[in-house]
Amino acid sequence: MTHRILVRAAETGDVDAIHALLTPYAKKDVILTRDKDDVYQHLQEFMVAEYDGVLIGTAALHIYGSNIAEIRSLVVSPDYQGKRIGHLLVEGCEKMAAQLHVAQVFALTYVDYFFISMGYAVVPKESLPHKIWTVCVHCKKFGDCDEIAVQKRLSDAPIEPMQMIPILDITD
Ligand SMILES: CC(C)(COP(=O)(O)OP(=O)(O)OC[C@H]1O[C@@H](n2cnc3c(N)ncnc32)[C@H](O)[C@@H]1OP(=O)(O)O)[C@@H](O)C(=O)NCCC(=O)NCCS
Repeated sequence: MTHRILVRAAETGDVDAIHALLTPYAKKDVILTRDKDDVYQHLQEFMVAEYDGVLIGTAALHIYGSNIAEIRSLVVSPDYQGKRIGHLLVEGCEKMAAQLHVAQVFALTYVDYFFISMGYAVVPKESLPHKIWTVCVHCKKFGDCDEIAVQKRLSDAPIEPMQMIPILDITD
């Protein structure tokens, strides 16, 4: 039987599952710790991967400025890793960035090989905007960060339109 993996924007009903996906990897210091309030407050940044109604992956896109955003909180459930779901989530974040006209995305990561396979290049951490360190100060490893910075310039391919928004026609 074929099962469909759906990658979509997160909703409030996903917060518990997102938090449950993130927590084990936050405990291993692979990603930043995020409590449920934090996830709620940044919910518009999150994509989720759903398999038969169960959330099996998540990723978030955090915008820092007119031309740069970070992919963070990227996790695929251990039972489903290696099935291209991570790729789908990163592509979802890149699409969100492109739709918002953000030209570059970066990540701080230990899985540089994963990002490199998606067209990212390793860059010096110092080349990233200073604003990012306002988040990093909450990390235990601040000051001794051994993560690798990877960055990708999004292509100049045509941007797919945002989801249709109802239009109100007003006549005078
Ligand atoms: C990193 C992660 C999100 C990738 O998601 P995924 O669905 O497993 O990855 P995909 O199936 O899309 O891609 C697989 C590719 O990624 C790389 N990769 C990912 N995880 C890997 C691992 N544990 N060991 C070796 N290669 C790995 C390989 O290059 C692989 O390429 P291949 O299929 O040609 O061999 C997932 O493994 C994960 O949740 N890891 C733990 C949390 C984490 O490190 N998050 C990243 C924070 S920036």
